[in-house]
Amino acid sequence: MAAITCIDDLKQLYRRRVPRMFYDYAESGSYTEQTFRDNSDDFARIRLRQKVAVDMSGRNVASTMIGQPVAMPLALAPVGMTGMQCADGEIKAARAAAKFGVPYTLSTMSICSIEDVAAHSDKPFWFQLYVMRDEDFVDATLERARRAGCSALVLTLDLQILGQRHKDLKNGLSAPPRLTLPVLMDLATRWRWGSQMLRTKRRFFGNIVGHAKNVGDTASLSSWTAEQFDPKLDWSKIARIRDQWGGKLILKGILDPEDARIAADFGADAIIVSNHGGRQLDGALSSIRMLPQIVEAVGDQIEVHMDSGIRSGQDVLKALALGAHAAHIGRAYIYGLGAMGEEGVSAALDIIRKELDVTMALCGERDIAALGRHNLQLPTGFLTEYA
Ligand code: GLV
Repeated sequence: MAAITCIDDLKQLYRRRVPRMFYDYAESGSYTEQTFRDNSDDFARIRLRQKVAVDMSGRNVASTMIGQPVAMPLALAPVGMTGMQCADGEIKAARAAAKFGVPYTLSTMSICSIEDVAAHSDKPFWFQLYVMRDEDFVDATLERARRAGCSALVLTLDLQILGQRHKDLKNGLSAPPRLTLPVLMDLATRWRWGSQMLRTKRRFFGNIVGHAKNVGDTASLSSWTAEQFDPKLDWSKIARIRDQWGGKLILKGILDPEDARIAADFGADAIIVSNHGGRQLDGALSSIRMLPQIVEAVGDQIEVHMDSGIRSGQDVLKALALGAHAAHIGRAYIYGLGAMGEEGVSAALDIIRKELDVTMALCGERDIAALGRHNLQLPTGFLTEYA
């Protein structure tokens, strides 16, 4: 195997090794995928300002997120069905993150359960909650996360109904996959994935199956979402969850300065500027374009994190320079996981840290805390093009 030197190498390997259905699930945006494309295209339009003849020794990329020390300001975002990308995927990703010293966020729609991940990783992780109609289920899930020692709750606000991803419907996405002829033909070329998957018991939505009462199809993310997610979620319901949880709270999916102000007044510990990786409101602006306005609105009140579009250490640097306190990656580590399991997640984190470190040095900075607009060259109109 050729040397792995960048996230795209992991992506190519991932594409070969993981069944098409799960590759497509990760690699899709909703509808026309305009926002999905914009997320990374907008990062590529931002350029960096080179500085020379400055002392670049003793560099530091360590930081904190919601008061917790991190090896670099980057968390692993919650990704549904991670345990379908690779057998026991959530456990492997959590272990790689713990070893590296960055937070791992477990999705409500994970394959490995909260308890299972806690039993197999020796550091606390964050838990992402989707708010369901059934309050008993929500409260029981919060209690399970608390008992498992989760050190923050990440409440997703931008997915009470699912933005349609065409390929998931065409592929009949489910966990576990239904063994139709096209699926079997695809699996025939993914022996590594299949042999590992046959050896694990973890092939169902582990936080749902056996925990939710009177429900229909627990194998399909789209029907579960349509039946169970609470379309009435509003700030009063969010307040109930905040009080019920009582611990650190991160609100994910904020893309509007006014929503950011409400969130900041609300007593959360951080917000994540996000359009869900372009998977929800197709036509929304990219997170990196919305970030500066949101930082301006609330950056002195609350930690502002961002996700959607980060595929490199250069992208992390651009986000920090535009005012993000930290960033989150989803696809960039899923590529590593699907390609090489736990080792692949570690490789993805290592690649991003090295890119961040070298890029910072070439920008003439030694400490990520010092990054700012002065490190960037933005295209004319980048921040004002859309009013
Ligand atoms: C779930 O969070 C998804 O985006 O599929």
